Amino acid sequence: MSVVSPKLILVTGGTGYIGSHTVVELQQRGYKVLIADNLSNSHIDVLERIEKITGIHPHFVKVDLTDKDATRQLFTDYPVEAVIHFAALKAVGESVEKPLEYYRNNLDSLLNLLELCREYQIKNFVFSSSCSVYGNTSALPIDENTPLQEAQSPYANTKKIGEDILRDTAKVSNLNITALRYFNPVGAHSSALIGELPLGTPLNLFPVVMQTAAGKRDKMLVFGNDYDTPDGSCIRDYIHVMDVAAAHVAAIDRMTKGQQKSRYELFNIGTGTGLSVLEIIHAFERVTGEKVKHEITGRREGDVVKIYADTSLANRELGWKATRTLDDMIHSAWKWEQQL
Ligand code: NAD
Ligand code: WQD
Repeated sequence: MSVVSPKLILVTGGTGYIGSHTVVELQQRGYKVLIADNLSNSHIDVLERIEKITGIHPHFVKVDLTDKDATRQLFTDYPVEAVIHFAALKAVGESVEKPLEYYRNNLDSLLNLLELCREYQIKNFVFSSSCSVYGNTSALPIDENTPLQEAQSPYANTKKIGEDILRDTAKVSNLNITALRYFNPVGAHSSALIGELPLGTPLNLFPVVMQTAAGKRDKMLVFGNDYDTPDGSCIRDYIHVMDVAAAHVAAIDRMTKGQQKSRYELFNIGTGTGLSVLEIIHAFERVTGEKVKHEITGRREGDVVKIYADTSLANRELGWKATRTLDDMIHSAWKWEQQL
């Protein structure tokens, strides 16, 4: 049954893709939510869509978190008990073109929030990290103790530096911090009322496959079939966005119940299963009944060959496990694509 809690959770980036799904999950578990977002990569109508699903219109403040005074106003106006910090710029390729914008946006917003958490004596903080912090690694499945390799992009580096900032902060403050390293979140809420909004021309595999299946593209490219994997294409750990959302509720529950073993904890959030690009394409064809025309091309620069999570720490400590299947991911993504 749901955990009814009087806490007001500040969800930054809460109108965005993962944030909006997490708001739904939080509300359905009895948490009250305040969303803060500058709408740089999301739409205000997400609030109504969330309300259609949960019956609750979340509190919302439009704010740029790099503006510290404006962000302070949130803490003055609302009884914030915990923060889940999703807000960030996330396009890997764009971060290579605009490194300063990425460092400024992602790090200033984090520093402002942490300073305000200190000022307002907030107790609990959850941070969106990413499997991209592992860099080009060969350890598999990858667990949280695997040493991090050099970041492959300014975006990934903002997550790595973000984790360093959090670890150092936790050593000297009363703030409980949980960093969640998501693998490859995909899919949408089963209602198809919320999902991932395409940002320009999609580059990630799921949106590309969907657009091809929907006939919006003639064909798609598979970046390499000569890797050291069973079918030669790269392997990733795709996870349903609602499972990612549930991990945040588990992290908040753990912290509010005082179950943390240390002030700073971090967890891999994946399924533990690796799937290849070609396996995803074939699964899409099977589930949707549509042909996904594809052509093999050269390797994409910077791609990790294979990566999937060891999720045993999150399973054990958070009491959380991904439960949705690949077919659930594809069904929900396809339903969302069709109503877009
Ligand atoms: P998203 O772009 O859909 O959502 C991010 C939200 O943050 C957007 O609504 C945007 O408007 C907002 N935002 C950005 N900068 C802001 C600022 N300065 N002030 C206020 N709002 C701001 O992205 P997402 O896919 O939901 O990702 C959420 C988080 O998870 C990000 O931190 C991202 O780096 C991380 N992450 C995402 C993935 C993924 O594949 N989607 C994987 C690993 C980690
Ligand atoms: C998956 C696989 C491609 C498109 C990204 C971010 C990472 C993290 C997770 C945020 C790869 C192949 C893709 C196409 C293809 N996000 N592919 N044809 O690269 O694992 O990670 O999301 O933190 O930082 O970089 O995801 O979806 O781009 O690619 O063959 O048209 O699909 O080569 O093997 P990736 P992806």
